[in-house]
Amino acid sequence: MFLKRVTLQHDRIASYKEYPYSIPTIKHLDQLELTKKVTFFVGENGSGKSTLLEAIADKCEFNTAGGGRNNAYDLERSESALGNAIRLSWLPKVTNGFFLRAESYYHFASHIDDVGAQEGYGGRSLHEQSHGESFFSLFSNRFKGKAIYLLDEPEAALSPQRQLSFLKLIHDLTTKSDCQFIIATHSPILLGYPEATIFSFDNGKIAETEYESTDHYQITSYFLQNRERFLQDIFRED
Ligand SMILES: Nc1ncnc2c1ncn2[C@@H]1O[C@H](COP(=O)(O)OP(=O)(O)OP(=O)(O)O)[C@@H](O)[C@H]1O
Ligand SMILES: [Mg+2]
Repeated sequence: MFLKRVTLQHDRIASYKEYPYSIPTIKHLDQLELTKKVTFFVGENGSGKSTLLEAIADKCEFNTAGGGRNNAYDLERSESALGNAIRLSWLPKVTNGFFLRAESYYHFASHIDDVGAQEGYGGRSLHEQSHGESFFSLFSNRFKGKAIYLLDEPEAALSPQRQLSFLKLIHDLTTKSDCQFIIATHSPILLGYPEATIFSFDNGKIAETEYESTDHYQITSYFLQNRERFLQDIFRED
C-alpha cells in the first residue's frame, strides 16, 4: 500500500464557520492512519465522506469530477476547498489510480467515447453497456498495477451478485496486484470485505469501527430477520 496517512493542517484553516470546515467530522479530524490496503468510509448521509474522499483525490491530482490523472476533461472539475488543508503521507508515492464519483460517471463515460479510449474499457462504449455492466467493465479493465483507487459509492450500479464479484476483484487486486482502495460506501455487502479498516463518520468524528458495529450491518441484519415487525413499527401511526 502507498498512502499511509491523511493529515488535516489546522494551521491553514482560518475559520470553522463555513463548508467544508464546518462539517463536524472534518473540524475534528487530525490524522487518519491507513494501515490496510482497503479502507472504508461509512456513516450517515451528509457526514463528510465524499468531502474527504474528494479532497484526497484532489491531492492525488486526479480529476475531482471522476477519473485519473489523464482524464483532464473540464466538466465539473470542482475545486476541493479541503484539498488545500490536507496533507498526504506516502511510502512510496504513486501517481496511478482513479477517482470514481457515481454522480458524474455519465460524463466520464462520454469523455472516454470522445477520446476513443473504449479499448481500455472492455472494447465497447460505456454508454452502450448497462449502468452496472459499464461500472464493472471499468473496474475489471481499468484497475491494475501499482495504483490507488478512490471510490465513492461504487455499489450504486451493482446488483448484490456483482457486489460479490467486486469483492473478489478487490481481493485479487490487493493480493496478486499492488492496489490500495479507499471506498465510501453504504453497502453492507462491500463493508463485509475482510482485512479492511472501517472508519465511521458518525457522531461528529472519524473513528475506527468494526463491521458488526456499523448501522449498515445492524439495520440490514435486523430488517432481514424481522421484516414484518420492523415495518409495522415504522408505519405505525403516532
Ligand atoms: N459544495 C458544497 N457547499 C456547501 N456545503 C456542501 C457542499 N458539498 C457538500 N456540502 C455539505 O457538507 C456535508 C457533507 O457532505 P458530503 O457530501 O461529504 O456527505 P457524505 O457523507 O458523502 O453523504 P452521503 O452519504 O449522502 O453521500 C453535507 O451537510 C452537505 O450538505
Ligand atoms: Mg457522499
